[in-house]
Amino acid sequence: MNDPASSSPAARPPDPEPAADLGDSGQAAASAPATTPFAQLGGEPGVRRLVDRFYDLMELEPAYAGIRRLHPSTLDGSRDKLHWFLCGWLGGPNHYIDRFGHPRLRARHLPYAIGLAERDQWMACMMSAMQEEGVEPALAERLTEAFFGTADWMRNR
Ligand code: HEM
Repeated sequence: MNDPASSSPAARPPDPEPAADLGDSGQAAASAPATTPFAQLGGEPGVRRLVDRFYDLMELEPAYAGIRRLHPSTLDGSRDKLHWFLCGWLGGPNHYIDRFGHPRLRARHLPYAIGLAERDQWMACMMSAMQEEGVEPALAERLTEAFFGTADWMRNR
């Protein structure tokens, strides 16, 4: 069966990994265009800007030192992997799966001790990144729920 991490939020709203309620077919809010979160973020360049902002903040902000230290000394590879993953997860091209196969996201996080503090730092960092990148508030709210479901699923202690 599908690991929820392999599906886009739009496709599998109830799963904890890809997350909450982005709707089955882009019908999130009456005012929202019937399109994917990937498209709404501006496609690959928009997703990349969000990922870069996320890791820039993780690098710079003392509040995220706890999760920064779980990562490799250089974040270049982490940036690429999150970008590739999010493109597919948000309803765009499946770059991550093309390169690495099934995401098995929870299993891939098992080497890192992730508890409530780490989950909350990850979420705060991503919410800041969305705000700084000017992600439209209704979309940011939906993505926050979706990210939270996935981040909470990553907890392993
Ligand atoms: C809950 C807090 C989280 C922490 C502390 C965390 C931490 C990490 C760390 C330390 C890595 C390894 C980085 C590397 O190999 O360069 C990683 C990889 C990754 N993370 Fe997270 N992560 C969290 C949540 C998430 C969420 C919510 C997502 C997706 C929405 C995500 C997506 C990924 C992906 C796609 C990879 C690459 C996996 C691989 O191919 O090895 N992470 N994460």
